[in-house]
Amino acid sequence: MGDLSSRDRSGPLSGDTCAEISVMSTPVDRWSTRARSGAKPNRCRSDQFWACNDQKSAEIRGGGGEEDFDSVDAKRAFVISEKYGDDYYEEYAVNEISDVSEKRFPKAIIVGVRKCGTRALLQFCGLHPQIVHAEREIHFFNDRANFYKGTTWYRQQMPFSLPNQITMEKTPAYFTSPDAPKRLKDLMRKDKIILVVRDPVDRIVSSWAQILENRVKKGLPPPNHTLEDKILNKAGRVNRREKSVRTSTYLKSYRQWYKLFKGRILVIDANELVDTPWKSVEKVETFLELPHLVNQSEFYFNSTRGFYCMNNGKGPGRPKCLNKSKGREHPPVSDKLRRKLKDFFFFYNKQFFQKIGTDFGWNH
Ligand code: A3P
Repeated sequence: MGDLSSRDRSGPLSGDTCAEISVMSTPVDRWSTRARSGAKPNRCRSDQFWACNDQKSAEIRGGGGEEDFDSVDAKRAFVISEKYGDDYYEEYAVNEISDVSEKRFPKAIIVGVRKCGTRALLQFCGLHPQIVHAEREIHFFNDRANFYKGTTWYRQQMPFSLPNQITMEKTPAYFTSPDAPKRLKDLMRKDKIILVVRDPVDRIVSSWAQILENRVKKGLPPPNHTLEDKILNKAGRVNRREKSVRTSTYLKSYRQWYKLFKGRILVIDANELVDTPWKSVEKVETFLELPHLVNQSEFYFNSTRGFYCMNNGKGPGRPKCLNKSKGREHPPVSDKLRRKLKDFFFFYNKQFFQKIGTDFGWNH
């Protein structure tokens, strides 16, 4: 790949201007005019940053109550000092405001595993003022067509960030992709890899629940086979080649990542993420060498959803709980199938726990 050069990673690109908004009068005008025109500049000065970045602009617009502010930056400074205290503001925010924002390559990537809580982890990490993240899954390293769009395209998919912020993206399909680890290593030499893992049996059931719901959404009839039919072969044994089974066999894919990213992989336990999400975020903070700022008070338990939600969603009108497609009710699974799956994964789980040096208790 000729275009995977270091220049491409850090240097400004030609045409990286914020001309669309620099001619506008006040920060608020700038934001609203850009929002109306839909223009998405590649790069902007710090005083235009909050006007450029929808997500953080929304946060600021929603975050400061009724106070009158001269500028978006003034309001942002207020929000930061209210939320994290003046010390944090002095140390970090002042520098941020005087610096330049642009779209940057991610420094941390949640590579999987699908249906293990990847969206929850990404959203919760986004509570940290020094983490920004792409909203959608980018599928750059696993999807050939996207990969050949090049690194400039990839960077364009990222949100604006300031120099002391870390950009994150999550694409769970990277975990099982045979190409993603090498491609990611070649391009992102210093990147950190984050993985969320869940009891493989629960993951399979969660994936099945998604298949069933998607069919309903598309107006299709229920599938003409059961989960048993899908997972077991004719001899009644777990089919190790079945996609859902392969994805849940973490050990195999993990080995690929470990070979290339040893020492730079954080593995998060899905149960911990559900029960005490602030602890998982704290692990990410430590891993990324960021100050610990996201604590329990950022979350509340929503008994209707049965999950923790965020006290401060990103701006007005934005949901504070995850989308309803997260935390679905699972269809019933026979004890027999569950047992077969448990037995099948026992050995793989055991080796996986040995490899990562932690036992998440799925075999007990
Ligand atoms: P279920 O829908 O099976 O319960 P992903 O984002 O990788 O697709 O993972 C979806 C899973 O995230 C959900 O699976 C749910 O268990 C988990 N999750 C973790 N924390 C959550 C939260 N706070 N709200 C909703 N789902 C959460």
